[in-house]
This record gives sequence, C-alpha cells and structure tokens, in this order.
Amino acid sequence: MANSIIVIGAQWGDEGKGKIIDLLTRQSTAVVRFQGGHNAGHTLVIEGDETILHLIPSGIFNDVDCVIANGVVLHLPTLFDEITLLQKKGVSIDHKLHISTLCPLIFPSHIALDNAKEKTLGSKAIGTTGRGIGPAYEDKVARRAIHLSDMFDAERFLEQLNRLMEFHNFLLVNYYNAKPLDVLAVGDEWLSYADKVKPYVKDTALFLDSINNSNASILFEGAQGTMLDIDHGTYPYVTSSNTVAGAASTGTGLGPRDFKHVLGIIKAYTTRVGSGPFPTETQDESGEHLGRVGVEFGATTGRPRRCGWLDAVAVKKSIINNSISHFCLTKLDVLDGLEKISIAVEYDYNGKIFTSFPSISSDELKRCKPIYREFKGWEQPTSGIRNFRDLPIEAQDYIHAIESILSKKIVLISTGPDRKDNIILEDLFT
Ligand code: IMP
Repeated sequence: MANSIIVIGAQWGDEGKGKIIDLLTRQSTAVVRFQGGHNAGHTLVIEGDETILHLIPSGIFNDVDCVIANGVVLHLPTLFDEITLLQKKGVSIDHKLHISTLCPLIFPSHIALDNAKEKTLGSKAIGTTGRGIGPAYEDKVARRAIHLSDMFDAERFLEQLNRLMEFHNFLLVNYYNAKPLDVLAVGDEWLSYADKVKPYVKDTALFLDSINNSNASILFEGAQGTMLDIDHGTYPYVTSSNTVAGAASTGTGLGPRDFKHVLGIIKAYTTRVGSGPFPTETQDESGEHLGRVGVEFGATTGRPRRCGWLDAVAVKKSIINNSISHFCLTKLDVLDGLEKISIAVEYDYNGKIFTSFPSISSDELKRCKPIYREFKGWEQPTSGIRNFRDLPIEAQDYIHAIESILSKKIVLISTGPDRKDNIILEDLFT
C-alpha cells in the first residue's frame, strides 16, 4: 500500500492545514479535497507571498495532481476566481486539476437560504460562513442536488435548475420573507461555465484508484475540524459535512483500506469562529495575546476568531473519531513571550469530573469548566526555528507534555507561516 495520508483538523478548524498540506505535497503524487466547500480558507505563504485557497487543494503550487472529489460542494464562480488568481501568480492549472462529475453544485439560492436562515435564528445563529454550504448538503441528502456532470446537457440542466430554484424561491419568499432569485439569470451564468469546467471533469474515484495502483502516495486534505463534524462535533454549532477522516473514504469513492496514516493537526492553543461551546476560551490578556500574535481572523470571512488554551479533552476525542496516528503542532511561535501556558486535561461539569469529552448537549457543554495543567512559558522566540534542539527548554517541555497527555507522537512542528518554518521530526512517507 502507498503511504497515503489523511490530514485532518483535530480542533475547530483553522489549525493551519493549508501550510502543512503544501509541505507534505512535495512527497505526494496527488492532493485531494474530499468534503466541505468554499467555506474553507487554507492560507499558504510562499517566499512572503500569501495565497488563500477556498476550493482548490493546497498542493497546487507543486507539480502534483489536485483533485476536488465528490464529497465537496462546488461553487463554480469561486473555482474560476481561484483559477484566475493562481494563473496570475504563474501557477499552471491545466492537466493538474481534476474535479468529480459527482460534486453537488452550490447556487446563489443556497447562499441566499443560508443567510436568510441565519437571520431568522437571531441570537441562536450558527455563525456560518454564509457560503450556502448547509443548504447545498441539505439538497444532496434530500436527493434534489444538481451534480457537476448534469451541466453538460443544457436542456436537462435548466429543467433541474428550474425545479430546484422554484423550491428555494418558495422557501425564501414564504418562509423567510426574503427576495426570490432570478432563475434565468442563474441558468445563463452557470451554463457559461460549462465549457470552461469540462476539461477538468472526470470520474475522480477511478483516477485516484489508478494512482493508488501505481503505489504512489496521495494526500487527503481535510477542511474545517473534527469538532465541527456534522455527527461528532458540537451540534448544532457545526458545519454540514463530515469533517472526520472517514469522510476521505465516502468523499472520494476509495475504500477504508486505501489510507495509511491520519495526521491530526493541532494548534499550540485553540481557536473557534462562529457560535457554540468552547470550554477553554479565554477573554483575558492571554486570549488577547493569542488573537493578536496569531493574527486570528477567519481566512474566509475575516471575522475575529475566539481564542483559548489547548484543549486536550477535545483533542483526545479527535484521536478516537479520526484514528489519528500522528500529530502536527502548528503556531508554536504564537506562545512566545507568555509567562504561563495552560492545557485543559479534564472538565468539571457541576462537580462531576470528565476526563474524556462528555456526550452532552452544546448548551450543557457551555457550562463545563476546564481543569488546567500549567506550564512555564519561554522568553526566547521560537519563530522560524527548524531544529528541535534549538527550541527553548520550556517549549521542548511543553511539546513533550502534549505528547504524553495525548499518548501520540508529534512528528512535525510549524514555527511560522512560511513554508520553510518547520521542525520535521519524522517523515511519514518513509
Ligand atoms: P458553514 O460551514 O458555513 O455552514 O458554517 C458552520 C460553522 O462552521 C460556523 O461556525 C463556521 O464558522 C464554521 N466553519 C466553516 N468553515 C470553517 C473553516 O474553514 N474554519 C473554521 N471554521 C469554519
């Protein structure tokens, strides 16, 4: 079996997966997005130049095949914006990009429904990215979705679109008291993409299987994070896809025996965008430090991220939900200069101590109080360090403590946003 790796966010997303994918891509033949959509925002910094990708796999800067597989809900205008952006940066796309015939399409009416629903929820809003992700997955499960391959028979496509948008407009007008959308205009715009997208479209399961059969390594690029998983996350404050490693199978059409490692990405602390429980959130000066030094603003929406300490209780749940084999620790340098650093190791819920993540509602979870282990901070900067021995001893101790609490090895440490700022402790490809 090839050394294929699923890279997964083990917290609430924004763990820095994009940079790690870009790094690991150099030893892979293909990189695959398998769930979510353009709600994701994967940031890459290459020689000081920042690029944020929402749909195209973060491996595109390397000479590898980049696949958008069937589990992804596809917004064509964003796809073409990204293609144009990359072409302007001199990145070649042709022959490298492969998109599944089976990707369900996101239309403007999905986006309108997402925003109308959030408005109606008021203080109970999820805080979605407003990209139409939820309504698009709802349509998929309700067997109403229009697939990418449906676009290539214009007459049939317009019939399907008519039926779908009639339903969306009914909801918008009669339930949400919002404006309906112009079906003809959407049909025209989408059909204008058909010829442009066609060269990229194929049976990506078959394509990935052929790569697997040649014994080459594939990288599966998770989006969002485990705690945002529709089944296993802090429901209803979650996204609408399965974000756990298992989705790499259903979201590509490969079977569970086709994957070797699951690399969980964790930040050296925790962030969350949008609403919902976040037991280790800190609003004191250390929270302010994490947000400011970590430049914690959503890569898709620009919203400030909520910040807090590393939550080992939640990460241990991620180990179970994803069968994480190894960890990568990102943004270690953001902790530079803090006097004390904490890790939550248990929760106290009304006097009852939980050592593993409690199976309780999100409302109850909001009342859980973390029990912390404290660590001494370090004064010298870790930013840009590429050798473990060069880290301050307190930072080394912090890393060893995380490994000991999680009972897993950290094989990679990111010490800055640039693709070169890493400490590589173990090569998963060998
Ligand atoms: P949706 O995926 O836009 O429906 O948003 C649902 C929840 O997931 C919201 O709390 C979003 O902030 C969160 N979310 C969606 N995508 C991301 C991401 O890429 N990073 C972090 N949070 C995300």
